[in-house]
Amino acid sequence: MAVKDAETAAGLGCEAIVVSAHGGRNLDCLPAPAECIQAIADAVSGRLTVLADSGVRRGTDVLKYLALGAEAVLLGRLPLWGLAAGGEAGAEAVLRMVITEMDTAMAFLGAERVTELKASLR
Ligand SMILES: Cc1cc2nc3c(=O)[nH]c(=O)nc-3n(C[C@H](O)[C@H](O)[C@H](O)COP(=O)(O)O)c2cc1C
Repeated sequence: MAVKDAETAAGLGCEAIVVSAHGGRNLDCLPAPAECIQAIADAVSGRLTVLADSGVRRGTDVLKYLALGAEAVLLGRLPLWGLAAGGEAGAEAVLRMVITEMDTAMAFLGAERVTELKASLR
């Protein structure tokens, strides 16, 4: 969650980091990843692959993290809730819902690629 820690990871030769609040479960007064991703990506992109997670519940949440500089976004509890509700089909339905929401939001934004979201944000 800190630029300093990302710099340390790059210095140690890591290939990637996850900007994560651990789902907000450990220390509830932490900033949200959305408040940290951009500064971290600006500092280490090109040296580290920057992934992000925590609190992603909709396709638009994925797009926000990508637009802020994450190269990929991880889902924790969301597909697990689908799994709990409907087994494998439930997990698959949740993942399809996220992809559909991403497609719809990108169409409304007039973006064909997520890289366009980054360019328009900066
Ligand atoms: C029940 C539970 C246990 C977790 N345990 C760990 C853990 O031991 N170590 C860790 O790095 N993250 C842990 N996480 C955080 C996840 O790796 C992940 O960052 C988080 O679930 C993403 O947020 P989301 O569930 O809102 O998508 C845990 C999350 C949950 C829900």
